Amino acid sequence: MSENYQSKTHVFYSPTKIIVGVNTASQVAQEVRQFGGHRVLIVTDPGVVAADLIAPVESSLKAGNVAYVIYDGVEPEPPSRVIDRGAEMFQAEGCDLVLGVGGGSSLDVAKGISLLATNKGKILDYCGVDRLPKNGAPMILMPTTAGTGSEVTRVLVLTDEEQNTKNVVFTPYALANAAIVDPLLTLSMPPSVTADTGMDAMVHAIETYVSMNATEFSDILAERAMELIADYLPTAWAKGSNTDARYHMSLAATLAGMAFGSGGLGAVHALAYPLGTEYHMTHGRTNAIMLPHVMRYNIPGSPERYARIAEFMGKDTEGYSLMEAAEMAVEAIRELLDTIEVSCQMQDYGIPEDDLPALVDGGMKQARLFVPNPRDLTREDVDSIYREAY
Ligand SMILES: [Fe+2]
Repeated sequence: MSENYQSKTHVFYSPTKIIVGVNTASQVAQEVRQFGGHRVLIVTDPGVVAADLIAPVESSLKAGNVAYVIYDGVEPEPPSRVIDRGAEMFQAEGCDLVLGVGGGSSLDVAKGISLLATNKGKILDYCGVDRLPKNGAPMILMPTTAGTGSEVTRVLVLTDEEQNTKNVVFTPYALANAAIVDPLLTLSMPPSVTADTGMDAMVHAIETYVSMNATEFSDILAERAMELIADYLPTAWAKGSNTDARYHMSLAATLAGMAFGSGGLGAVHALAYPLGTEYHMTHGRTNAIMLPHVMRYNIPGSPERYARIAEFMGKDTEGYSLMEAAEMAVEAIRELLDTIEVSCQMQDYGIPEDDLPALVDGGMKQARLFVPNPRDLTREDVDSIYREAY
């Protein structure tokens, strides 16, 4: 099935090089050399350092005689000042390549630092689409979670503390020279982080698949990602040391990242962002909470696609009507969330019901994400989805 794609122009973005495999972190020095790095700024957060996840990176750099400095000032849902400070350090230390190691926040901060190294100013000067005049400093990205897909996208998400909102920088210059996806870096994620980040990847695949901006390229990647996540997320959650499950989740998150990097997101991310900024919940958890509610709302906009999602998630839709088959996708997601012990009701997280109007305001600020969503949303629709999710 491909819908009228012949009438669309396809644009596909990808990093120059993607390296996926067990123990690929040990090749980092080689990649740094290939992309002209002599003095590396490692961008990470204190949790990654404490878990010793940069150990294989450091030993590769030492063995390869590559000098490096560590910036471990990354905070969750990174405020813009974290990027600005890292850019000052890159300059002050005379670095020539940015190496992001961590979850989505560390990778996004690394992108921002790379961009500011050549474009100057503050990162908030560049929010929006294609506002940077120059390519950034060379950059290598290494995820330590299996979820955000940030290692392969051209977007970075940051928090504007003054406006108390999320903002984004979109530019092809935010694509890495190399993404190194080593599942061994994800083994120590605790079950709740595995669940949250894995669901973020699932949301990327689903949102892109039903997006008005989906392409031939994003479909293939999203379909495979959905199948892999449905198959491997429960095992990765239940047994963190299972390298096979971790490998497939790392691969799936990267595929889903490549899919949404060109195909775009939708209303799940839009309505999840305010939960993240208001209650400091993880990006993946807030997406997981909103996913089944937005899916149900969206079904009339793309029933064929939702029916296929049910199939990718292992449901047998034979003999059911199209709408019944589409509903089975929501069921499959609810079952997956039950298995990995993630509630999709906001009240289970202690969010006061009185806060719903403020969340609606926050959701409406993300209206840019409503454009590719398969069903239009008014303020009243956003309100009723939040009530459903409550
Ligand atoms: Fe996401």
